[in-house]
Amino acid sequence: MNEKINAENEEREGASESFFSDIVELREMEYLYNAAIKQLTMRFEILNDEFRIKYARSPIHHIESRLKSTQSIINKLIRKNYDITIESAKKNLNDIAGVRVVCCYIDDVYSVADMLLRQTDIRLVHKQDYIETPNYNGYRSLHLDIEIPIYLSEHTEYVAVEIQLRTVAMDFWASLEHDLRYKSDKDIPDSICKEMLESSDEINALDVKMQEIYKKIQAL
Ligand code: GTP
Ligand code: MG
Repeated sequence: MNEKINAENEEREGASESFFSDIVELREMEYLYNAAIKQLTMRFEILNDEFRIKYARSPIHHIESRLKSTQSIINKLIRKNYDITIESAKKNLNDIAGVRVVCCYIDDVYSVADMLLRQTDIRLVHKQDYIETPNYNGYRSLHLDIEIPIYLSEHTEYVAVEIQLRTVAMDFWASLEHDLRYKSDKDIPDSICKEMLESSDEINALDVKMQEIYKKIQAL
């Protein structure tokens, strides 16, 4: 068993060597994905500013972002059986750059997504609506895999970003579920999975209720 693990580790280290060999390409990849994160974050902030001025409210509660670490990129390439090269990472992984937009109400999630997708230079690659159809465990969010143009000195590069849009309530559940799952190395029994699913439904009921209260206040 240990021999197998050692062999796998050696294979892993050998594979990642080639990934780190071209340091210039690695830095170039980092700044491109960072540029995409900055661009997208700014576009969402501009939309939120416009709303604040026009309607005296902010549909976006807050924005988070992250660049996947080099080690996580390599681990995912190994896990998914892809070549361990920068080219392969760019081609096969859609979540090297991630932006999470946490909105106030459910309707805000869809209107913010529509506002972004109306921007003519954004390419939508894939949309996954885990609000309409939650994950098996109760996870809810709207996922948009997009490409955004980054205008460089001599050419334009379209860079992939995974956007997760969700309400504060969905974010509350997803953050705790992530924490519970990653902190525990035990097998979670079905009864606890059922409780997680039930808690997601309860949180969703509150989300719907808060949306209705908001609408009632608007109509006063
Ligand atoms: P990947 O290859 O890992 O991207 O799998 P996928 O494409 O099937 O996953 P998907 O695009 O649906 O989800 C990617 C991201 O969404 C994850 O990295 C998490 O941030 C988030 N996510 C998806 N499912 C869950 C979940 O059950 N719980 C939580 N907390 N987050 C989730
Ligand atoms: Mg994905």
